[in-house]
Amino acid sequence: MTDNHLKIAVIPGDGIGKEVVPEGLRVLEAVAKRHNIDMRFDEFDFASCDYFQKHGQMMPDDWKEQVGGHDALFFGAVGWPETVPDHVSLWGSLIQFRREFDQYISLRPARLMPGVPCPLVGREPGDIDMMIVRENTEGEYSSIGGKMFAGTPREVVLQETVMSRIGVDRVLKYAFELAATRPRAKLTSATKSNGISITMPYWDERVAEMAKDYPGISVDKYHIDILTAHFVLNPDKFDVVVASNLFGDILSDLGPACAGTIGIAPSGNINPEREFPSLFEPVHGSAPDIASQGIANPIGQIWAGAMMLDHLGHAEAASDIMRAIERILSEPAMRTRDLGGQADTQMCGKSVADALD
Ligand code: NAI
Ligand code: MG
Repeated sequence: MTDNHLKIAVIPGDGIGKEVVPEGLRVLEAVAKRHNIDMRFDEFDFASCDYFQKHGQMMPDDWKEQVGGHDALFFGAVGWPETVPDHVSLWGSLIQFRREFDQYISLRPARLMPGVPCPLVGREPGDIDMMIVRENTEGEYSSIGGKMFAGTPREVVLQETVMSRIGVDRVLKYAFELAATRPRAKLTSATKSNGISITMPYWDERVAEMAKDYPGISVDKYHIDILTAHFVLNPDKFDVVVASNLFGDILSDLGPACAGTIGIAPSGNINPEREFPSLFEPVHGSAPDIASQGIANPIGQIWAGAMMLDHLGHAEAASDIMRAIERILSEPAMRTRDLGGQADTQMCGKSVADALD
């Protein structure tokens, strides 16, 4: 399945997206050369607030044709609230990719890396190493609902959770398959079937049903309230964690936060069937407060590149990048300021690329 010719759509977006994406590309180019991967990058200026200023919309009408034929999207960050409201920039770009390309998995690793101060006392690299798998298309984030008697004392608002068997089973299958590739082979399901008494028992039922097909995987489940407490108190318990859209949203910010800085966390928006391109990006946004200063940490973007290569069947190239990231994070001089170092964005990116050899 591995394809040696890759065509990547590059979308830097706004703010520090434009600073960290070039570092991600620098590392991808270097690793591609070492592994004889023929990787072509096509850069696009849309899905940015600059594009909106010029054209009155975030993306051209034919954006799907322009990037739909690529193997993956390598995305920076979108958002510049000074000129375009966040809901306009986000819904006009990133949400479109997720919906139209049926990227129904949101995948976020949370791993404590050497050299990254952990906000949880006494934790060391190795203690936190989990993958959070979030359902990305239905669940609590549905558009079914409405408002009645608006503006009167009888005002009523409703928004329904939607769980389809197809939607639940496909995210569970992805999570079980992922757990099967990992040494601990463990899967934790986030639920709340004590309080949410229709959809969440259904979720649990589908987990139990799917577990029958994966006898080698040890499965447990926690209600979301105590699960968040365990993330903080016992993060070493977790390997693969699967969750509905809302619970996954919360866990996938909490997990990386427990593992240190937001500047190094990556994320994949994945269409596992590869019917459409998947999108890889750092977890962080465009960081207007530090944009144009050349000090942003490029590691989240570089790690997103490793996830992209892994998704495209180049696991060895991906682990090369991960080893280089670990090496650089353990060198105080090579770290950026958010990690207490002095390196600027480019210096950090270059040192990761150099550490590949
Ligand atoms: P943010 O992630 O951009 O920044 C939060 C804080 O973390 C800031 O103090 C920033 O300086 C710091 N930070 C973020 N990335 C960093 C890096 N690589 N190195 C060092 N420090 C870093 O989140 P915020 O401020 O809430 O949002 C800013 C804009 O980004 C908004 O327009 C928002 O809508 C957008 N956004 C876009 C996302 C995306 O494209 N996926 C995700 C999150 C926010
Ligand atoms: Mg979120």
